[in-house]
Amino acid sequence: MSPSQIVTQKRMTAEEAAAMIQNGEVISTSGFTPAGYPKAIPLALAARAEALHAQGREFKVSLYTGASVGDELDGSLARAKALNFRMPYQSNKEIRDGINSGEIEFVDFHLSHVAQYLRYGFIPRSTTAIVEAVEVTNDGKIYLSTSGGMSATFLKSADRIFVELNESMPKGLMGFHDVYVPKSPPNRPPLPIYHPGDRIGTPYVKVDPSKIVGIVTTEMPDKTPPFRAPDADSEAIAANVIDFLLHEQKKGRLPEHLPYQSGVGNVANAVLSGFASHPQIDAISLYTEVMQDGVFELIEADRLEMASTCSLTLSPAGQVKFRANIDELKHKIIIRQQEMSNNPEVIRRLGVISMNTALEMDIFGNVNSTHVVGSKMMNGIGGSGDFCRNAYISIFMTPSIAKNGDISAVVPMVSHADHNEHSVQVMVTEQGLADLRGLSPVRRARLIIEKCVHPDYKEMLTDYLDFGLKNAPSKHTPHVLAHAFDFHKRFLETGSMKMREPAGV
Ligand code: COA
Repeated sequence: MSPSQIVTQKRMTAEEAAAMIQNGEVISTSGFTPAGYPKAIPLALAARAEALHAQGREFKVSLYTGASVGDELDGSLARAKALNFRMPYQSNKEIRDGINSGEIEFVDFHLSHVAQYLRYGFIPRSTTAIVEAVEVTNDGKIYLSTSGGMSATFLKSADRIFVELNESMPKGLMGFHDVYVPKSPPNRPPLPIYHPGDRIGTPYVKVDPSKIVGIVTTEMPDKTPPFRAPDADSEAIAANVIDFLLHEQKKGRLPEHLPYQSGVGNVANAVLSGFASHPQIDAISLYTEVMQDGVFELIEADRLEMASTCSLTLSPAGQVKFRANIDELKHKIIIRQQEMSNNPEVIRRLGVISMNTALEMDIFGNVNSTHVVGSKMMNGIGGSGDFCRNAYISIFMTPSIAKNGDISAVVPMVSHADHNEHSVQVMVTEQGLADLRGLSPVRRARLIIEKCVHPDYKEMLTDYLDFGLKNAPSKHTPHVLAHAFDFHKRFLETGSMKMREPAGV
């Protein structure tokens, strides 16, 4: 197929595009996980920054994306010291190091919030948008590649647009997206998604073609990690989740056709794999933000009704499978903008069962998803808050220990709170599952210690609770603030949360 006129007219090199970006600019890009992000222009921009720095000149930009993105964007700009501000989520080591050293300013947002924050004018607008697409038409229809992210809002609000037309991506991606930008309050009507498979928008983002200043053709694939088979802990966590869901089904508390949200990583893949193979689980729908390889197992077992997602985060092998079946998958998968995939109104109404990974939990039911020992940013809250707060049942999962047992995932008080006791309903580790619904704080604590805590830490946490019940100024949530962070203090001082002496607070 010959390129459209606009592509011929506006074609330029990545270097030419990068040369037009100014020091101090706010740039926004497509991308949500290492899927659908621009690659060639960011690499050229990083090279330009390095060259300018070598001449002793300043060059840094602010970067807005949908969520985390691939190394060609986040990694290369961080290594080139070309970033002064980043939002709303990242998972790249170099950016993380820059954030935690104080070099890069970072704002951690609920992913459903950011696009409307931009439209409301709460945060600075980006002047340049760079998106990856599989097609651009002469009248300004941009067909995005493997992620929705915030591209529609970025494209509509920026002064100028660069498109990376990725020729290695299948044109068959046209038709997967459902682009819908809600109106602003007080004039926003209800969002008419009544089933994960409902399409309410357009398969493209429509822009004024005169804003497109450059089109760069590329052939670089999404740099996703290879699929890792679930480890023993993930499988045990998945088995605990499935037992719980079957129990809920038996009790008549789990209506049919509730959609599921599952986070990224090993545990999420293990849960989907469990759904695909368990004899008592029926076909399910996903209303989620990230679709990983686990979805193929559901499809192969004929157990996927529909998947609504914000990105296709498929391993290289998963990408091959996707391409081989792209026409059939178009009837099973919808890619949405993140304010729709993570929309609180829709999540609450559809009754999504959310399953996210926690970094740390406390005995009273609060969850830390983001900060290691209170101060070190890991990735960000991502969509976990959008889903957890609004879910039909909100489940948090984590292995009970980290760092060879020197860290207990369950602590007296979380060192940073992302999801609080009012929103978290179920906690799961490989040890077991605690259903916290309707329990007072002390009952929650006893249950979490009994079911979720690693044996090495049960006695220490029981001691903390009993000590609190005797000595805390009030007994409703019997914290003793002088000791609430003893686990963390010990870890910082000795490298382990374990006591050298016999247990006792
Ligand atoms: N304290 C300190 N470090 C901890 C820890 C704790 N309580 N728990 C885990 N860690 C360390 C691990 O040892 C590991 O360290 P390493 O990188 O040096 O090996 C690291 O933190 C990551 O742990 P891991 O178990 O591999 O985490 P993960 O890849 O399953 O990710 C989150 C867990 C919480 C970081 C991740 O799910 C996340 O960023 N969540 C927030 C976003 C979200 O939930 N989005 C919605 C769904 S997509």
